[in-house]
Amino acid sequence: MEKNIKFPVVDLSKLIGEERDQTMALINNACENWGFFEIVNHGVPHDLMDNVEKMTKEHYKKSMEQKFNDMLKSKGLENLEREVEDVDWESTFYLRHLPQSNLYDIPDMSDEYRTAMKDFGKRLENLAEDLLDLLCENLGLEKGYLKKVFHGTKGPTFGTKVSNYPACPKPEMIKGLRAHTDAGGIILLFQDDKVSGLQLLKDGDWIDVPPLNHSIVINLGDQLEVITNGRYKSVMHRVVTQQEGNRMSIASFYNPGSDAEISPASSLVCKETEYPSFVFDDYMKLYAGVKFQPKEPRFEAMKNANAVTELNPTAAVETF
Ligand code: OGA
Ligand code: NI
Repeated sequence: MEKNIKFPVVDLSKLIGEERDQTMALINNACENWGFFEIVNHGVPHDLMDNVEKMTKEHYKKSMEQKFNDMLKSKGLENLEREVEDVDWESTFYLRHLPQSNLYDIPDMSDEYRTAMKDFGKRLENLAEDLLDLLCENLGLEKGYLKKVFHGTKGPTFGTKVSNYPACPKPEMIKGLRAHTDAGGIILLFQDDKVSGLQLLKDGDWIDVPPLNHSIVINLGDQLEVITNGRYKSVMHRVVTQQEGNRMSIASFYNPGSDAEISPASSLVCKETEYPSFVFDDYMKLYAGVKFQPKEPRFEAMKNANAVTELNPTAAVETF
């Protein structure tokens, strides 16, 4: 943690002008060596972000806090006498935008909050598609390649997980969110600009993803590791709890559609590939039970449908 490593921050405005090549190289390096980067000057209006943050915090207080405290009570987590490894210290709800929106089915959202989340979701969807094309360019894949793979017959799945990580009296006893890699495609995270907590695993050390006002944190999911034949990696990350402050995070997942066929891009495979080919939904069925386990056995299991049962997926988690 104390190592002097600089988390990659990419200024997207530099894609226009003489620093374009350098900026593309920075993105490529981040995708190859971090699985994460943080973007600024991304075009999402700052006042919209401020509004979304303010309304998410109000919504938590009004509609979520009591439920979170009830959960602590019912799970016996109020006193945290020993380390807890099967529960996360988080309060969440999920919005789906694509293929069909559920925005109007979520209870307790004000009209203004819904409108802001719809606008925010649309802008992040466009940003995700622009970022996928930047990845294509760096990978030597034709423009639109990743978007096309993700499309399947029904279009991509795009959803937002709205989370709050309330202050925790004993952070050493429980994680806000246990270590995992994300299953899907590309993830865009709008995180609290004051309360930190997100960490990624790099070369055996947990590194903080620093809060940076109005930035968006990008990370790559397991599908991009498969499609790029391992050139890009999905990286383990987790959220640690804090004694002070409630951390807000809004994670938007741009994933393949359920029937999208995923396989390593042929131009990125030299001899044989170590990665499997599969239908995305089959991967998600497996992932739901083994999210908090390493990804390698998942990839292995997908090569052999019978092996999936050996991984013994049990606890289903709600996830994108
Ligand atoms: C996730 C995740 C991080 C965060 O939901 O998959 O990694 O900061 N979230 O909420
Ligand atoms: Ni994640």
